[in-house]
Amino acid sequence: LTLFLPRDSAALALGAEAVADALRAEATRRGIDLRLVRTGSRGMVWLEPLLEVERHGARLGFGPIATGDVPALFDSDFGPHPAALGPVADIPFLARQTRLTFARCGVIDPLDLDAYRAHGGLAGLARAQDMTPEQIIAALTDSGLRGRGGAGFPAGIKWRTVMQADGPRKVIVANADEGDSGSFADRMLMEGDPFALLEGMAIAARAVGAETGYIYLRSEYPVCADILRAALEVFHTKVLAGSGFTIELRIGAGSYVCGEETALLNSLEGKRGTVRAKPPLPAIAGFLGRPTVINNVLTLAAVPHILADGADGYAAHGTGRSRGTVAFQIGGNVRHGGLFETGPGLTLGDLVNGICGGTASGRPVKAVQVGGPLGAYFPPALFDTPLTYEDCDAAGGLLGHAGLTVFDDSADMGQLARFAFEFCAVESCGTCTPCRIGAVRGMETLDRLIAGDPQAAPLLADLCEVMRAGSLCAMGGFTPYPVESALRHFPDDFAGQREAAE
Ligand code: NAI
Ligand code: SF4
Repeated sequence: LTLFLPRDSAALALGAEAVADALRAEATRRGIDLRLVRTGSRGMVWLEPLLEVERHGARLGFGPIATGDVPALFDSDFGPHPAALGPVADIPFLARQTRLTFARCGVIDPLDLDAYRAHGGLAGLARAQDMTPEQIIAALTDSGLRGRGGAGFPAGIKWRTVMQADGPRKVIVANADEGDSGSFADRMLMEGDPFALLEGMAIAARAVGAETGYIYLRSEYPVCADILRAALEVFHTKVLAGSGFTIELRIGAGSYVCGEETALLNSLEGKRGTVRAKPPLPAIAGFLGRPTVINNVLTLAAVPHILADGADGYAAHGTGRSRGTVAFQIGGNVRHGGLFETGPGLTLGDLVNGICGGTASGRPVKAVQVGGPLGAYFPPALFDTPLTYEDCDAAGGLLGHAGLTVFDDSADMGQLARFAFEFCAVESCGTCTPCRIGAVRGMETLDRLIAGDPQAAPLLADLCEVMRAGSLCAMGGFTPYPVESALRHFPDDFAGQREAAE
């Protein structure tokens, strides 16, 4: 008997390890030879732990499973059961997705290199080995791949800058410091299909001529760290041996701002994780002053597929300058939260109310914060916004790392706006004044506005302008997004704003 059960952090948090123990014990009790394959997650978090069994070529799902369900599952030979979901691929949440980057996630054992190869892995690297660096970068450029960390900078241009930069010993850095609250796509990929990231890094190394790679992982991901360590051992021995390229895992120390690339590089060099002024860009002078490709995990993990299947196939997904797929992460007060990979263009309302079924509380959606804690709050009136970089921008927000947090009509937008300043005050690296001082003054001024002081409104508008224009990085520069969007769309939640308007 072969069963599949995730061991990704979300599944573990929901009891997957206890279910695994119960499955093994029950199989032993019944004298059944059980092969329990521990996979990553499919990304349907409300169904975790999601147990799967292969029958007639299809994977049948059961979820969420508790230890108490195990005897009955064996009794029915994994047939009729209240938690039976039928073929997993037919579950609407999964069936409506275009899974390119996450195609293997939840399907294979993340540490089984043969399974990785059997499901299309290493084909991209093999193709890259037959191509010149120029051809690899041309393919990346043609695919339209943009940085998935949030800023959406064209990956091909970044790699070309590093390839052409003077300087020996170029470096590849995977930014795995996924600090945005509500974001989990990087973690899910690394726990479910780590070889995709490693293969992407190996292709990047070949394209720009690098000898060293680093994965900078946030300390809050211990399960992910274990899986990456094990994956690196396999990959070094079986794939990278003799290539002259090695990858090292480095763990951060719990700072949000270390997700900003220059703070990350400082931290990687053993210095305090504060932001450096740009220029020079990391592509010219990054880790220890060397030309450095620093990309988000999902950007690098998309590369093997692009090389294996061709740039045109990837570019065919999406619209305008938003090509390929985006991995939306939907959390907060939502009925069916999880990871939804699709070509951009779906509207916010389709995703939140249609695909995800609205709020978990059953109350109407009041707001969705798009793009992490520095992203704007979108009211239902903007739910026809297509989820592309350009459309989110035009609607006064940003797509960012594509994390979406849903709030129902009990949310107090005044307090959420205040939280944006508080978050900035706590996480500010202190290098520049608009952020270091502005965040604290912002909290005070917002408290006045919430308490009904209309004179605080113009002060707050000025402060947001200064932070936006004068901050050195996105931490201070983007904090006005949640604040101003909350003020703009939900003025009734700010007594002083109401009075100022009257
Ligand atoms: P940025 O726009 O300054 O840079 C984007 C990238 O392009 C950087 O890697 C930069 O070095 C590179 N670049 C720019 N011009 C280049 C050129 N001519 N040649 C080569 N490379 C070039 O944006 P930044 O500050 O790096 O990122 C801000 C974004 O980060 C925000 O949009 C936000 O959504 C996102 N973010 C993501 C988080 C997460 O957890 N993933 C957390 C916080 C923010
Ligand atoms: Fe540091 Fe904030 Fe300035 Fe960024 S905006 S450099 S986090 S003080």
